[in-house]
Amino acid sequence: MNTGERSLVGGGPLDDLDQWEDDLRRRYPEPAAGAAPPGGNGNRSKQPEQFRDYRADARPQVKEFYRLHHRHQTVDFVRAKRTEYLSNLGQRRRMGVWQALEFLNTLVDDSDPDTSLAQIEHCLQTSEAIRRDGHPRWFVLTGLIHDLGKILCLFGEPQWAVVGDTYPVGCAWSEQIVFPEFLADNPDRNAPEYQTACGIYSPGCGLDNVLMSWGHDEYLYHVVRDYLPPEALYMIRYHSFYPAHRDGAYEHLMNDADREYFRWVRAFNPYDLYTKSAERPDLAKLRPYYEELVAEFFPPTLAW
Ligand SMILES: [Fe+2]
Ligand SMILES: [Fe+2]
Repeated sequence: MNTGERSLVGGGPLDDLDQWEDDLRRRYPEPAAGAAPPGGNGNRSKQPEQFRDYRADARPQVKEFYRLHHRHQTVDFVRAKRTEYLSNLGQRRRMGVWQALEFLNTLVDDSDPDTSLAQIEHCLQTSEAIRRDGHPRWFVLTGLIHDLGKILCLFGEPQWAVVGDTYPVGCAWSEQIVFPEFLADNPDRNAPEYQTACGIYSPGCGLDNVLMSWGHDEYLYHVVRDYLPPEALYMIRYHSFYPAHRDGAYEHLMNDADREYFRWVRAFNPYDLYTKSAERPDLAKLRPYYEELVAEFFPPTLAW
């Protein structure tokens, strides 16, 4: 599908969606070879000086992005988006995985002609690194599709409703959330029932019972949930939940299954963050392999 459309990058302060991910790489630098795997124990908190450096160096657009994100991600907002998108999957659009990848690629930064394939390249660089390491086919496929939920931008959602670190709403925010001070402007601050440690949830209730801030992770999870193993679904659903998978927050809401499957979320994260390279994947050469892989797990079209 070549629609010839060149859409804008979604409303918001970021130059493009990659700017959020570039910032994540700055906040969570790639560990030196031979070092312990990032977030391996789930409680690898950053050193205070790393926080200080990160905050001092944050780009103004990134700070403004988080200010908007934290201001607007309320319980009511999340419930409204879940109703808008999840109660009528398939009525908005039916597309196969490859079509969705090409649709996502129409999300380009008009100011930079080199980014015309940026989204599909990130997907392929992630999946190819997973494949090179000999992981199972569902893991490779997860790398390919994990960011397809970003097509929310093409449905008119602002950047802060598509990307950004995710975290639970309806309970007290963790101090591990990036720029926690911006949460002071969130109207849920004034709802006492949302300001206790567990808020509207019960201890150990399991993340499946917890409303996460709205974005590309949760959306894609619902689109593909019938077709992939639970490990893959955790990777998709929680790959932006940095306060938990990198900084060990929100243990009190998790159940044993969450703790078990978060090992996979952590295994996925380095492939997401550290596989960006100048070497461009050869789309034409890779396409037959991926078309077969997609067909192994998914029907010809999915309900978006
Ligand atoms: Fe993502
Ligand atoms: Fe990604």
